[in-house]
Amino acid sequence: MDQAEKLRNIIKAQNDTQERQARVITVTSGKGGVGKSSVSINLALQFRKQGKSVIIFDADFGLANIEVMFGAIPKYNLADMIFRGKEFKDIIVEGPEGIGFISGGSGINGLGNMNKDQVQYLVFKLKELEKLADIIIIDTGAGISDSVLEFVVSSSEVLLVTTPEPTSITDAYALLKTLSARSTFDKDYTEIKVITNRVSSYEEGRNLYNKLEVVVCKFLNINLKYLGIIPMDANMSKAVMQQKPISSAYPNSAAAEAIEKLAVALLNNTEVEESKRNGLAKAVMNIFENRFKK
Ligand SMILES: Nc1ncnc2c1ncn2[C@@H]1O[C@H](COP(=O)(O)OP(=O)(O)O)[C@@H](O)[C@H]1O
Ligand SMILES: [Mg+2]
Repeated sequence: MDQAEKLRNIIKAQNDTQERQARVITVTSGKGGVGKSSVSINLALQFRKQGKSVIIFDADFGLANIEVMFGAIPKYNLADMIFRGKEFKDIIVEGPEGIGFISGGSGINGLGNMNKDQVQYLVFKLKELEKLADIIIIDTGAGISDSVLEFVVSSSEVLLVTTPEPTSITDAYALLKTLSARSTFDKDYTEIKVITNRVSSYEEGRNLYNKLEVVVCKFLNINLKYLGIIPMDANMSKAVMQQKPISSAYPNSAAAEAIEKLAVALLNNTEVEESKRNGLAKAVMNIFENRFKK
């Protein structure tokens, strides 16, 4: 049995015995600054409101967005757990409303360089993490790094955020194109739901989605779904300045209400099968195996 096969068996064995397995939702975009972190944190708050336990995993190693929005800087990050013996209880920071928050730190970039013992350890730990919450939201960095893509292809549920800016749409398309060319991408496994952010109306959001869908349908082997809009709303930036999520600072604002609708739509969609829920551990497996393919 080779190393990869052993790890697969670990994931499988744990799937057979465990009671709870988190739903993993990966939030991504082609371009930065389109609202991924805002979506992640506010969806988390809405899920809390609906009684779900939520952990946000910040895989955006560029800017410490979520940290800023939470107003809390974690002392330790994922790398401290993999390489320096910290436990989840040390690296999970408690944010507003009891939302758990984990900083990927440099841990995500370092994933490609782990040795097999470290990979095995991380896979074990991630399975443990998936038992700690109902929903895990992964806020990925924008763009197309190998490890981030692997988190995307390993998730059964991906939220793709775009805005009406032309570069946001072309970059979303570029991301989807890179995804579809990846050997680990399975269009029947990964469901990609599009959120159109900073739009001025439902129509604008819908048209934007239709434009993207037409080219994706024609040129890429990917199925897109439409989740909905978040309107352009000045309260969003006001909330960021106060280091508060808009859902707590301005719960009745147009954007907060729109995000609540998105959260409810996601929760009502019960089609995410338990068998599809092994996102995080699978991502690490794939990152590990990819090294041998190159
Ligand atoms: N619907 C919106 N209306 C107005 N401003 C928004 C909206 N969504 C996001 N923003 C603002 O855009 C900026 C980037 O958002 P952020 O969530 O940090 O994007 P990302 O994580 O994709 O880089 C923030 O200042 C945020 O307040
Ligand atoms: Mg961000």
